[in-house]
Order: sequence, then C-alpha cells, then structure tokens
Amino acid sequence: MKIVSVVGARPQFVKAFPVSRELRGRHEEVLVHTGQHYSEGMSDVFFAELDIPAPEYDLGVGSDTHGQQTGAMIVRLGELVAEERPDVIVVYGDTNSTLAGAMVAAKTEATLAHVEAGLRSFNREMPEEVNRVLTDHVSDLLFAPTERGARNLGREGIAGVHRTGDVMYDAIRWARERAADRSTILHEHGLNSGEYVLATVHRAGNTDDPDRLEAIVRGLSEAPREVVLPVHPRTLERLDAFGLRTTAEEQLTLVPPASYLDFVRLLDGAERVATDSGGVQKEAFFLDTPCVTLREETEWVETVEAGWNTLVGADRAAIARALSRPIELPPKPELYGDGDAAVRIADAIESHA
Ligand code: UD1
Repeated sequence: MKIVSVVGARPQFVKAFPVSRELRGRHEEVLVHTGQHYSEGMSDVFFAELDIPAPEYDLGVGSDTHGQQTGAMIVRLGELVAEERPDVIVVYGDTNSTLAGAMVAAKTEATLAHVEAGLRSFNREMPEEVNRVLTDHVSDLLFAPTERGARNLGREGIAGVHRTGDVMYDAIRWARERAADRSTILHEHGLNSGEYVLATVHRAGNTDDPDRLEAIVRGLSEAPREVVLPVHPRTLERLDAFGLRTTAEEQLTLVPPASYLDFVRLLDGAERVATDSGGVQKEAFFLDTPCVTLREETEWVETVEAGWNTLVGADRAAIARALSRPIELPPKPELYGDGDAAVRIADAIESHA
C-alpha cells in the first residue's frame, strides 16, 4: 500500500513522527512537507531530532495570505498526488496544510485519513476551526484522540470514526526521558526546574490584535516568577509592529523558538505554562505541568474539567491572578489513551484498505 502523509507546520512534525514510524514498518510512505513552516528553527531542527526521515518532497510554499498559501499547496499537492497515485492520504490537525491535503484527497480515489479528528472550539473565527470542520467532513477515516472528539463527529453525522488516543501522547512518551538526558536548554538560559513560568503565544487572534497582545505581555509580566517566552516569528513581528517589543524584552525572557526536545524539557521543568497553543495544553497535562490558557475557549475541554487547565483569555488581571495562585494538583484521569495511538491508526488504515 502506498501512503502519502502531508505535514507543513511545526506541530504536525511532532504528530506525524509516531505514525510515520509505524506506517513505514508496514508499507510505503511518502512524506510531503508543504513548506508552510520553513525556517531552520521552525522546521529543519524537528526532522534532525525526531525519529522521522526527512520528507521525500518539500513543496516550498512558505508564508502568504491564507488564500495564496492554501491555493499554492493545493496546486502543488494535486500534481504530486497525480504522479504518486497513493492509496491513502494522511493529514494531521488543523492547519492550512491539513485543509490543502484534504481538498486534494477528496477529489481523488485515495482514502483520506485525518489524524486528530473531531476537535471543536465552536469558534468559527479561528482559521483552525474552519480547517478542521471542512477536513472532517471530507475524510473517510477519522482518528479522534478523545471520547468528546468522537461524539462531536457523531453529532455532525460523520461515519468512519475511530477513537485511537492521542498521537502527541505517543510522542511525549518517546521524548520525555530523552529530553531530560540530552537537552541543555535549562542550563543555556540559567533556569532551574520548578522556578520559572513557560509561555507561548502565536495564535492569530492574539498576535494580530494590539490590545490583546498588550494585555498578554502585561499579564505575563506580573507573574511572580521569571517568564520564559520562546518567540514564534509571527509574534516577534507583531511585538515590533505594535511597539511592545521593548516592554516584552525588559519584562520577560525572550528566547528563540525551541526544538521539540528542548521544548519538552522547558515544559517539563516549568512551574506552570501560559499558552494559546492547542498542543501545548495537552503536552502540559502529559508532563504534569499546570496550564493557563490565553484563550476564551479550548478544544481540549477535558483538561479544564479535570482541573489542570484554566481559561483566562487575553485579560491582564486574570492572567496575573492565574499565574500567582497556589498550585493544587488534582488526580489525573487517563484522557488521551495509553500511548499506542499510532499503532491503532496504522491498524485501522490497514483494515480499511
Ligand atoms: C500555523 C497554524 C497553527 C499552528 C501553528 C504552529 C494555520 C492556519 N495555522 O500558524 O494552527 O498552531 O502554525 O506554529 O495553518 N514564519 C516564519 N518562519 C516559518 C514559519 C512562519 O518566519 O518557518 C512567520 C511568517 O512571518 C508568517 C507567520 O510566521 O507570516 C505565520 O506563519 P503561518 O504558517 O501562516 O501560521 P502560524 O501562525 O505559524
């Protein structure tokens, strides 16, 4: 069986590697990088570090408006798929690369498989929500990481759903010990485990709105501990444009985007994390780090219900309060499977074929 897997943005490299490893043991996999993320620190370093081969193709699409970016991916992927003629196309998550892969697959004979299906924030203003809803509705095989994800799909009348557990949990199980052994990131920045807050901010809804970005920078600045912020290129650009860069540099510890193992080490060692990322909320849960989410809603509602995640939006006072509150760690339910999601996904693809 021939499988084309499509990735393009940082979180997809992490999600794809456990699945890729499993698929390659059994079938022919062609890994395609759309080029959505292209910088050394946002892309190359992941392939060097993760247990995943370099992509067979790089479509070199790069950054642009959503229309230009997604359109260029569809054109180039369409040509590639016509040439490779895969039996199955696998897409991951909710980025523009996911949507492009889905649109191409939906118009071919190939089976379309969506890893991380069924998530909903119910906020259609997020480009990611549009991407995931559209992708789910044209997929043949849908791999839901959680019970809630599977339920969302059932409610929308979608068939072909498998509840597999979360591939990011598979990835963390591989990475945690390795990161503790190999990463020197804490030492490089003079950080001690348990004594700093880790922060990440890159979501368009936060970075492109000057009021929200300012409230976040100010809220983080009021944390009682040092706040370490690995800065996404989009965020740095906006901090500059809105005249917030100096404040951020004075109040926070700005560091370059981290590799996967360095990020896992930073998150594992953090007293807590403040983030607007989807994946980081779960990774924090896996690593027993309490999470403060800089959004009004989340796709990972279970982490909030379990008491490990607090939604604070872009509210300066709420952010500061959440970062100062004493930490109570409630018991941790098993929400994301047992770390064998990739095996289940490969099995389901095989039985479908
Ligand atoms: C994308 C995904 C988001 C995911 C995130 C992970 C969409 C709609 N969004 O957002 O769901 O959580 O990736 O990081 O697909 N840039 C660089 N170098 C790079 C990549 C980007 O400098 O390697 C800069 C460019 O200035 C670009 C901006 O970042 O304009 C945004 O990049 P883009 O890929 O469009 O979206 P992300 O914000 O990264």
